[in-house]
Amino acid sequence: MTPIYLDNAATTCVRNEVADKMALILKSTYGNPSSTHSLGRSSKTVLEQCRKRIASHFNVKSSEIIFTSGGTEADNLVLRSAVCDLGVQHIISSKIEHHAVSHTIAAIESTSKVMVSYVNVLKDGTVCMDHLQELLALSNVKTLVSLMHINNEIGTILDLEYVAHLCKKHKALFHSDTVQSVGHYNLDLSLIPIDFLAASAHKFHGPKGIGFAFVRSGLGLQPIITGGAQERGCRAGTESIHDIVGLDTALSIAYQNLESEKQYIQSLKAYFIDRLKAEVSDVGFNGCCDNFEKSTYTLVNVCLPVSTEKTPLFLFQLDLKGIACSKGSACQSGSDSGSHVLREFLSEEALKKPSIRFSFSKYNTKSEIDEVIGVLKDLVLEPA
Ligand SMILES: Cc1ncc(COP(=O)(O)O)c(C=O)c1O
Repeated sequence: MTPIYLDNAATTCVRNEVADKMALILKSTYGNPSSTHSLGRSSKTVLEQCRKRIASHFNVKSSEIIFTSGGTEADNLVLRSAVCDLGVQHIISSKIEHHAVSHTIAAIESTSKVMVSYVNVLKDGTVCMDHLQELLALSNVKTLVSLMHINNEIGTILDLEYVAHLCKKHKALFHSDTVQSVGHYNLDLSLIPIDFLAASAHKFHGPKGIGFAFVRSGLGLQPIITGGAQERGCRAGTESIHDIVGLDTALSIAYQNLESEKQYIQSLKAYFIDRLKAEVSDVGFNGCCDNFEKSTYTLVNVCLPVSTEKTPLFLFQLDLKGIACSKGSACQSGSDSGSHVLREFLSEEALKKPSIRFSFSKYNTKSEIDEVIGVLKDLVLEPA
């Protein structure tokens, strides 16, 4: 049985072109980029070419891209150094951030004097802009706002440009976890006055274990991993050249094909929603994931109308039928604590029902969706 992979927000398969290029580099370009001999210099050249190309997608300087082991490390780097080195005394965030941000903020709060405020989350899963404005206006110490661009569980989109300008107006720094949007949305950072963002290659058909932080120049960020002077002193450790080449290749292909792939994936999402509405009455769409303006084209999060006894085994039953999807964030799929995101706006009643995230890629097809809808319909109708 070939599995139907609808868990692309957790991770994506590596594109063949990316894997081929990485294999080539792994064999040929093995010098340490910090070595001064010719093999080292070749690696350094490849590294800096990748950095330059990546920076060009966002209209920023190469020196503003710092390679990390992924999105989690990029978030940690920004949040921890902002408090330790940039004098941030107040963090404004939300309770629907990925754990890479929320658990990091909690850890910082427990060991420092930083104050943390949370922006209210509205019923549709978006953060309340009026409340953010209020919190910013009341803050009279150095403040960092950390709000994600695309929510990884429910897909809601934050208006990055609006929030960036609001932060500028109130002289606050702005960090956004853009792990779910880099490679899926164009971000021109010469127009968006954002200070930091985090990205991860495995969300756009690149390899796992590599990502980057964008850090606006002149801010003085310091490393959280100390050692050598790599990455302009911001992140110690020998750079993984083949992974960085994989990231660069995947990102370039993603941006070259952005419009056509977006249209295709969006049509799959629309088809999924239409078919599900037609076949499963009373299905709920969490947040505003059936609204194409407010929610990303890459995922839906559905609340299925079944009795509570069926809930615990629902994901397992889909897995048995060869369908890979998840409860929300991949990091919590194995835990029973439920979604911290859905808890913010769903009723107690709705929280007892199975909520499942289906996330799409250009490798999915309409016939796969037909199959999934058929299975969902059978599972919903099956007696408990
Ligand atoms: C929104 C968001 N932030 C951060 C991360 C963590 O990224 P990484 O897996 O590269 O550490 C993820 C991945 O699940 C994510 O979806």
